[in-house]
Amino acid sequence: MAEQREVLLKVDRLVKYFPIMQGFVFKTHKGDVHAVDDVSFDIYSGETLGLVGESGCGKSTTGRTILQLYRPTSGHVYFKGEDLVKMKGETLRKTRKKMQMIFQDPYASLNPRMNVGQIIAEPMIIHNTYKGKALQDRVMHLLELVGLNPAFVKRYPHEFSGGQRQRIGVARALALDPDLIICDEPIAALDVSVQAQVVNLLEDLQKELKLTYLFIAHDLSMVKHISNRVAVMYLGIIAEKASRDDLYNHPLHPYTKALLSAVPIPDPVAEEKRKRTILEGDVPSPVDPPSGCRFRTRCPIAEAVCAESRPELREITPGHFVACHLAKL
Ligand SMILES: Nc1ncnc2c1ncn2[C@@H]1O[C@H](COP(=O)(O)OP(=O)(O)OP(=O)(O)O)[C@@H](O)[C@H]1O
Ligand code: SF4
Ligand SMILES: [Mg+2]
Repeated sequence: MAEQREVLLKVDRLVKYFPIMQGFVFKTHKGDVHAVDDVSFDIYSGETLGLVGESGCGKSTTGRTILQLYRPTSGHVYFKGEDLVKMKGETLRKTRKKMQMIFQDPYASLNPRMNVGQIIAEPMIIHNTYKGKALQDRVMHLLELVGLNPAFVKRYPHEFSGGQRQRIGVARALALDPDLIICDEPIAALDVSVQAQVVNLLEDLQKELKLTYLFIAHDLSMVKHISNRVAVMYLGIIAEKASRDDLYNHPLHPYTKALLSAVPIPDPVAEEKRKRTILEGDVPSPVDPPSGCRFRTRCPIAEAVCAESRPELREITPGHFVACHLAKL
């Protein structure tokens, strides 16, 4: 079904390396952090793609490189068919209005010296989309839209709770009427009790405003509810991507299986019976990632071939892709 829909964002073989420079006066190039290393996925209009993986696997770098906040080392990012990598200046600025980001830490991402009204109005002033009374009305409307009392417009970020601050971040992201929002772990820093409220708000806004989301999280339980499809990242690459149901019911990559076995099952009988895969060791350094399959140093079923060649993402069933030499149905 999804294949027939319009592709809003196409990420094509995206690579982002951060150079490591050493030396005080004469800097020499000592190597690179391979933060994102050949990542491809599509996001269809109106859907939510979950992007999941352990800390440091390159999720935020992927998000920032999509928005061209970091320029990619190579690869392309097509938004409505136009390559953002080739854009610069005013063209890029105009296109980027339609793509916004919500951050993990609502405390750090809001300017403490600005009141809520100023914070939400700022992008509209910079882009000159609303002025005067229309701007004030728009700020009030956005506050209502995210479930905040418009009477709080003159209050400062420290006067709000974590969940309310994240709502302010959402209102600011909505100010320029975006099509795509990259939600970078928007609920990870919140109390469990308010996480569901923020997810529900994002879902309601998605329906009402026809938004498309890339929803980043570090564990699979966080994106299960909200995602239509899920991509699993490991050390700069996509290990597996599939529809939500395929991924959770028929995971094919050993890494996805391990991540899923860490997600608690509410049914105690099923919880008792299931096999757990415990991941051993740490994620290797992205400065010197393992040869062949990046997961091989922790993979419970690795064979000789896994060190020799890098597994490509293969489509095993329609829409279900996995990067593993040994994966089969
Ligand atoms: N600006 C930067 N300069 C150098 N290295 C960076 C930079 N940003 C990220 N990295 C490195 O790139 C790798 C990927 O980082 P990234 O922040 O994208 O991971 P992440 O999956 O978002 O992790 P987390 O779950 O902790 O947010 C890490 O090794 C990180 O140290
Ligand atoms: S390619 Fe080999 S090491 Fe990598 S996930 Fe598959 S079996 Fe494990
Ligand atoms: Mg991150």
